[in-house]
Amino acid sequence: MAVPFDQMDGQIWFNGEFVDWKDAKVHVLTHGLHYASAVFEGERAYGGRIFKLTEHNQRLHASAEILGFKIPYSVEELDAATIELLKRQGFSEAYARPIAWRGSEMMGVSAQNNRINVAIAIWQWGSYFNPAEKLKGIRLDIAEYRRPDPKTAPSKSKAAGLYMICTISKHAAEAKGYADALMLDYRGQVAEATGANVFFVKDGVIHTPVPDCFLDGITRRTVIELAKRRGYQIIERAILPEELPDFSECFLTGSAAEVTPVSEIGPYRFTPGTISETLMNDYMKEVYPVAAAAE
Ligand SMILES: Cc1ncc(COP(=O)(O)O)c(C=O)c1O
Repeated sequence: MAVPFDQMDGQIWFNGEFVDWKDAKVHVLTHGLHYASAVFEGERAYGGRIFKLTEHNQRLHASAEILGFKIPYSVEELDAATIELLKRQGFSEAYARPIAWRGSEMMGVSAQNNRINVAIAIWQWGSYFNPAEKLKGIRLDIAEYRRPDPKTAPSKSKAAGLYMICTISKHAAEAKGYADALMLDYRGQVAEATGANVFFVKDGVIHTPVPDCFLDGITRRTVIELAKRRGYQIIERAILPEELPDFSECFLTGSAAEVTPVSEIGPYRFTPGTISETLMNDYMKEVYPVAAAAE
């Protein structure tokens, strides 16, 4: 059995201080736990540098503002804390998880006076999907839950509460032997996977849904830039599930998932091909500091 996450070794940055991993605890009466008043990020370090760290911390701030609270540490302070923590943890390849949440001062729905807590943890986390499956393309089911209307939920925030339907959907897919689930949106259009954005290829052209009710991922934007650099045509548009049989390739993008080819979505089949492979390799080159410096 793997060591549970609350029993690993090292340090965690907790409200401005580096504390022992096992001491980074919250009380059961914490607003964030009861009402999901929490926002977080998922970042990866490559060759000792966290890829697009500042963009992640800017999004953490923006996510909190959407939920109506202000993170009491600046983006620069969070950047510096993460860099120092990565050094202290001694990793060059790692995953970083900052989280901000409302504390314990009030325990009803209203939490006007609650302290805003912030923590950052860094650990070594391998491939998000099974590496052997990743190259062949992973299998996705189609989720029953849909990404909500932005008028129903704060869909631009990387808010903990939005992941409730993702975990339900991912568990349902895993129970059927799939690696993940593709979620449609409230209109029935193709949206994203439970923790990653989605792209398709048809006749050499890349298609991806407009991120108007789900995260416009940092990896998504990076991959669009890489595709443009390669001269690929990219179309951001509404994609209907009825179109899935027309696409030849499909891949997911995310800080955790990186670029992961997809071989199946429900009854539809895709063959990981040149474009998926090229962008997968380009992304890996892009994230490493040496490659970025050499450009
Ligand atoms: C629901 C969801 N969509 C998309 C993404 C991709 O975002 P990013 O590329 O910024 O990691 C993530 C990962 O954070 C996610 O959880």
